[in-house]
Amino acid sequence: PTIYGITPTYARLTQKADLTRLSQTLMLVKNFHWIVIEDSDTKTKLVENLLKETPLKYTHLNMKTQKSKHSSVLDVNICIYKTSAISRWYCASGVEQRNIALNWLRGHLDGIPDKRGAVYFMDDDNTYSLKVFEEMRKIHKVGVWPVGIVGGMRIEMPLVTNGKISGFNAVWKPFRPFPIDMAGFAINATLFLIHPEAKFSRKVQSGFQESEILKYFTTKNEMEPLAENCTKVYVWHTRTQKPSILNPKKLKHPPIPDGHIEV
Ligand code: UGA
Ligand code: MN
Repeated sequence: PTIYGITPTYARLTQKADLTRLSQTLMLVKNFHWIVIEDSDTKTKLVENLLKETPLKYTHLNMKTQKSKHSSVLDVNICIYKTSAISRWYCASGVEQRNIALNWLRGHLDGIPDKRGAVYFMDDDNTYSLKVFEEMRKIHKVGVWPVGIVGGMRIEMPLVTNGKISGFNAVWKPFRPFPIDMAGFAINATLFLIHPEAKFSRKVQSGFQESEILKYFTTKNEMEPLAENCTKVYVWHTRTQKPSILNPKKLKHPPIPDGHIEV
């Protein structure tokens, strides 16, 4: 079985550092296929070259998030501009990017005889132990596990009673149907062929993307607790700090030009 990792990514100063760190973890994972979707109108040289230089099996896609100040919240595929509180409510990252990746995956699975695999939605700045990928290989339908340092907690995790999920410990929006982070579950790939309608949505409030995709595939009762009955942390929702760079125009002496060097 193949693990399909789906990673949206966008241009910023730390992008190459984050993608380098992630790609070098992924090189250690057997039977892994990385689907990288740039939040951009075109594919960038930076990401293209980074992917080309890895030994990974990968698919490179791009799709820019549409932003608008005026569109109604009912528009599909439009992220309402991030200035008001209302807009932040709907403006999750990665929605359109993950959806085109899922469509690519469906086409890919249609064309190959061995459709077995797991789908994992991976932020480009999280930290992944190799152990989390081993857990995914045990999945029948949907597997779940704890995530470290997320939702204002040390650990956000499903609660397990007699081998079944009996609840969740989340304190951030605990009323979510599945109050877990994107990094805390993976889904059997063939289920995406059985449910061609399954996708992420702009019509739900922030924090509900996980519940949005999971609702097509599972119920709390059916979820499969992994990572030793959800007692181990094998993935961390780390976030790369936005660096503050000095403004070259404000320096006393003109700095040595470095614009020709990729960072
Ligand atoms: C949390 C969740 O862990 C994400 O899976 C979820 O997409 C996100 O919230 C959300 O709902 O907005 P967080 O660390 O806050 O994650 O988000 P980021 O890591 O900034 O973004 C998630 C992914 O989308 C990253 O791989 C990032 O590179 C990408 N992204 C972010 C874009 O493609 N475009 C953007 O404008 C921002
Ligand atoms: Mn992140």
